[in-house]
Amino acid sequence: MAKNIENFRKEFFLENPTHVPLNNAGLCLLPKTAAKKLEESTYMLARDGASGFSKIFEEWDLSKKVLGQFLGANPSEIAWTPNCSSALSFVADGYEPKDGEEVVIFENEYPANFYPWMARAKRYGSQLKIVKAEADLSRPTEKIIAAITPKTRIVALSHIQSDCGYLMDISAIAEAAHKVGAILVVDVIQSAGIYPIDFHKMNVDILCGGLHKWLCAPAGAGFLMMKVELAKKIQPNLHGALNYGTFEDAPSLGKTPYEDLRRFEQGTPSFHSICAAIPSLQLLEEYSVDNLWKKSHELRKVLLEGVLELGFDTYGGTQTGPHLSITHKKHPIKQFSDALMKEKISHALRPAPTAEGKVLRLSPFAYNTVDEMKHAVATLKGAIA
Ligand SMILES: Cc1ncc(COP(=O)(O)O)c(C=O)c1O
Repeated sequence: MAKNIENFRKEFFLENPTHVPLNNAGLCLLPKTAAKKLEESTYMLARDGASGFSKIFEEWDLSKKVLGQFLGANPSEIAWTPNCSSALSFVADGYEPKDGEEVVIFENEYPANFYPWMARAKRYGSQLKIVKAEADLSRPTEKIIAAITPKTRIVALSHIQSDCGYLMDISAIAEAAHKVGAILVVDVIQSAGIYPIDFHKMNVDILCGGLHKWLCAPAGAGFLMMKVELAKKIQPNLHGALNYGTFEDAPSLGKTPYEDLRRFEQGTPSFHSICAAIPSLQLLEEYSVDNLWKKSHELRKVLLEGVLELGFDTYGGTQTGPHLSITHKKHPIKQFSDALMKEKISHALRPAPTAEGKVLRLSPFAYNTVDEMKHAVATLKGAIA
């Protein structure tokens, strides 16, 4: 049975908060257990040096098992990468191109899921089809499906859009992409940890993500997930000891990279982030992602009702993550951002195709409180002179 969600806050260093954490879509807090693990892995390296290496590699294997259980994949289908951008770049650079191919992406995707495809288009002559967002930044499934043609080779999108929290209906898009032989690449950095994900059940070809957002683990590692059969069709663009064998092996001409996802792990990884991800993922599991989603949405609702009364426009429609992006009908968004900063309420100003060219994004998580939401709303109200 899942732990009581009302105790989730106690797992974090929030007894004497330094700020109100409302930019969780940017960077989540680390649970106490993850901070402890970071400390332990630091001391282990400080004390044991190279003799601690084997322990670290055991943890590396364990971390893949734990991430695999959390996201519904086998360890052989997972590669740890330096970040989410590099995971996406491996696919964009290395998936075998076809003459006249089209790559379908969205307008105003987070740059990690935009530039790799732009670079592919330059390198291989692919045609980039950039699907426009609606005025409220929602991204209707029909629009992306309409952009898929027999020439489409790759469809790449974020499961939850970082500018407004819009949540995509992945299964319908996967079906349309597969019908024409295209692969669907999904960036789950804004959904993993807050929305239930099961790679094997999703019918998606590739998932890419990172640890430092809703997975509540340290920055410094991303992941790439796909079936081994597909991995064989992607040539790694980074090379080193580990994607060809071990640190102990002599280099040898003619050696080929591993066929499974280890082909994308070329060298010494970010041990600390990967080790500390283990307790973070276990904690999220203990509280259940369903309950984290529910609680975060209850908090979002308090914010939503408050900002609507104050004359704000909201973005992303009704199908969103806990993200709430806003602009004001009369006042510039900077006025509100300054007021929130004064109160040490973290938030983000994100670029977006709106009249002001940006939105103010608040992103509550299950460790926030209703009082914090009310404080944020009161601060926004106070900023309307
Ligand atoms: C959709 C999306 N992808 C990727 C990233 C981050 O990528 P990286 O970990 O490579 O910096 C973000 C960060 O905000 C994001 O929102």
